[in-house]
Amino acid sequence: MPHEHTPLLTTVRVGPPRRRYTHNVVRRFCTIALSSILIWSVLSFFVTVLFDPEARHPPDHGHDHTPWSWPGCQGRKIDYEQLREILLETPSREKAEEWSRYYTAGAHLAGQNYSQVVWTKEKWEEFGVKSEIVAYDVYLNRPADHRLALLKKKKKNGEDSESWDVAYEASLTEDVLEQDPTSGFPNSIPTFHGYSASGNVTAPVVYVNYGTYQDFEDLLKANVSLAGKIAIARYGGIFRGLKVKRAQELGMVGTILYSDPGDDGDVTEENGVEPYPDGPARQPSSVQRGSTQFLSVAPGDPTTPGYPSKPGVPRGPTEKYIPSIPSIPISYQDALPILKALNGHGPRARDLNEYWTRNTGLAYKGVEYSIGPTPDDVVVNLYNEQTYITTPIWNVIGVINGSIPDEVVVVGNHRDAWIVGGAADPNSGSAVINEAIRSFGEAVRKGWKPLRTIVFASWDGEEYGLVGSTEWVEEFLPWLRGANLAYVNVDVGVSGPEFSASAAPLLNNVIYEATSQVPSPNQTVEGQTVADLWSGHISTMGSGSDFTAFQDYAGVPSLDVGFKVGSNAAVYHYHSNYDSFHWMSEFGDPGFAYHRTMAQVLNLITARLADTVVVPFRARDYADALRSYVAKVEDSTHTKKPSRDPSDHADAHSLGVAQLSDEEFFSIRSSARPHSSTDLSSSSSSFGSEAESFRRLYAAVARFAEKAEELDERADELRRRAARRRIPWWRWPSKIRLGFEIRKVNTRYKFLERKFLYPEGLDGRSWFKHVVFAPGIWTGYAGAVFPGLVESIDTRDEARFLKWVDIIEQAILDAAESL
Ligand SMILES: *[C@@H]1O[C@H](CO)[C@@H](O)[C@H](O)[C@H]1NC(C)=O
Ligand SMILES: *[C@@H]1O[C@H](CO)[C@@H](O)[C@H](O)[C@H]1NC(C)=O
Ligand SMILES: *[C@@H]1O[C@H](CO)[C@@H](O)[C@H](O)[C@H]1NC(C)=O
Ligand SMILES: *[C@@H]1O[C@H](CO)[C@@H](O)[C@H](O)[C@H]1NC(C)=O
Ligand SMILES: *[C@@H]1O[C@H](CO)[C@@H](O)[C@H](O)[C@H]1NC(C)=O
Repeated sequence: MPHEHTPLLTTVRVGPPRRRYTHNVVRRFCTIALSSILIWSVLSFFVTVLFDPEARHPPDHGHDHTPWSWPGCQGRKIDYEQLREILLETPSREKAEEWSRYYTAGAHLAGQNYSQVVWTKEKWEEFGVKSEIVAYDVYLNRPADHRLALLKKKKKNGEDSESWDVAYEASLTEDVLEQDPTSGFPNSIPTFHGYSASGNVTAPVVYVNYGTYQDFEDLLKANVSLAGKIAIARYGGIFRGLKVKRAQELGMVGTILYSDPGDDGDVTEENGVEPYPDGPARQPSSVQRGSTQFLSVAPGDPTTPGYPSKPGVPRGPTEKYIPSIPSIPISYQDALPILKALNGHGPRARDLNEYWTRNTGLAYKGVEYSIGPTPDDVVVNLYNEQTYITTPIWNVIGVINGSIPDEVVVVGNHRDAWIVGGAADPNSGSAVINEAIRSFGEAVRKGWKPLRTIVFASWDGEEYGLVGSTEWVEEFLPWLRGANLAYVNVDVGVSGPEFSASAAPLLNNVIYEATSQVPSPNQTVEGQTVADLWSGHISTMGSGSDFTAFQDYAGVPSLDVGFKVGSNAAVYHYHSNYDSFHWMSEFGDPGFAYHRTMAQVLNLITARLADTVVVPFRARDYADALRSYVAKVEDSTHTKKPSRDPSDHADAHSLGVAQLSDEEFFSIRSSARPHSSTDLSSSSSSFGSEAESFRRLYAAVARFAEKAEELDERADELRRRAARRRIPWWRWPSKIRLGFEIRKVNTRYKFLERKFLYPEGLDGRSWFKHVVFAPGIWTGYAGAVFPGLVESIDTRDEARFLKWVDIIEQAILDAAESL
């Protein structure tokens, strides 16, 4: 689809606004001040917020009950209380259910369902938000054919012959369930991996546990033969593409990924829980599709990293970004015969170490979790045929113009799914964002206009590798760098009852404030809010959803929120046919109450960001976070953290591996740190320059903290002044001064995150520009902090370590000076 810069977007780029200056005083002031663009913007702010009777005036941060006292405000059509009421009252369970039913009624792989694109755009416009379709031409694959079989050499008179018996032919399909119509949909999408390589390989098989970096290290240590073999890995913990990447690097020829019910907690058939559709345990035939892109190297179209995939652009080679060995996802039902064929071959999982016996959920079915490889007369044939195409994908972009043209909040959800359903991933988020847009449309209809521009996005191609959002950020980078205040992501809006969040530290407080104003759908005590029933834990930004390009490439502080599966909630069939409307309405969110709540949370987060006069960031939270990250990296040089033997490991020793949280477990298991304890206890465990380096980083953080504290105090003071002081209209110079000061503080907050970008990018993955946050190179989903430092410690490269100490120290000091 030919595409130029969208007219809609060019209207919201940085620049002076067109505004009517009816006020004489203002006009006179205008003619004097026009010479400076800064004054110009301040003036627009001043005119809008402090004088324009049409503009609405949001309340003081944390003082939502405080009515605004600006003289012009009396004429506004709705005040903040009314806005909040609209944003809390408008979202409806019935509507969310309706949107969920719509999106899950037909296949919608990336670039596959244009009618959902048009429908989304039309709905948003019906809600009152002007929208358009933004297309990219991207490289991606469609499944053509596949086969997975276990072969055993025929015995002839007790001797091997040349022919093979098919011991097991994997079905590679998910069962059609009578109760769940989606599972029998005629055009259902085959089980396959996004960006998987085609191939036809036949080889013995090796069990590689979760396929983390350390799992493969353990196998090398145990002399298990890997080259030329096919890996069978369980899903879990790290991004699937990185399992394939490591297998490929070690000369393996194919990868099979299966879902082990051991990772489903207590909700298992082994514990007597009925499987879906009769109960909440895992359907044995369920398969997790998904992308095998090397996500921690670069997301987006693998032929155009760093620039947008417009029709006709030059395209580069892909081997750095996607696998060259074939891979296939399977159910545990299909995995059983292969895992059993491994019994008795090679070491057993328990002979390696404790990390290998966690959650061995098929032991009760007779699986010994032997490593293998299988002998040469017991092999697997893995055949995977993918068709690669360059095809249009479509983002839908909706805009509500704000009064301040160069302060923009972007709110996004992806629309594409691996399956016909996708009731949780991503269309619970799509239902939620639709309800959010309907709410803001309602406010606009009643005369509200946000202070800042709000851009809503329905991304396409997220599943293959965050493609739609990455290409969009790459296209509009200069505008986003200048104007984008924050990015708010909702991907899986609801897959269970447990609220979960990850965020850049600047935005922590926005999440706490919003969640403490939204009633929980499951109150045991009257009046409980979402925050009351939440641990309050906010994870660092990793990857795996559309915030990645905003946070790590454009330096826009981002957050991601959703209700996730908690312990003992129904198993969520991620990327499976059973992530269906039926599952959602029977098990995931009966009555769609959590959908409504999620829309309310999203509404309040967006309103705070887009409509509080003083930007609601807290720089001191960033300072605290930086200090804790430095401490974390420093600690990791003292402890023997990712050691091979768990008895050496400080955490594992005191807690036992079984007690580690998944986050801890996989951060240990995906580190590229040398694993032998002797390596670590030797003098090489620290560089001579280490102590001094950390002192410098702490000093830089201390400087930053001081300036951050000052900025936050100034912001609080301005909030107080803006909320309390009644300034008579004729004292407009003091109004201008206040407007000017607010503008200055807001601009500092806006550009703070940008200061942590390093233009050359991270070592070996230069697309990633942020020096504080990146997906872990061997985790993908989970965030690494100070990736440059961590990786140089892992690889024991002192020169590289010192280079990153310099870069990070400089970034922190520059950020401090900017405040
Ligand atoms: C596109 O999605 C709609 C709504 O879910 C569905 O009705 C339609 O069948 C889908 N189209 C295709 C070609 O799958
Ligand atoms: C895969 O390769 C085997 C030989 O190794 C061959 O017998 C088989 O026909 C091939 N499968 C396909 C679908 O090409
Ligand atoms: C692995 O092989 C090396 C050399 O071939 C040998 O020294 C070592 O003991 C073996 N290790 C194990 C665990 O078998
Ligand atoms: C935003 O404002 C500009 C004028 O400044 C206007 O041309 C454009 O249509 C507006 N866009 C929306 C979505 O209202
Ligand atoms: C509601 O809360 C109760 C008590 O905390 C809990 O047992 C139950 O599972 C929750 N239900 C849902 C649907 O979240």
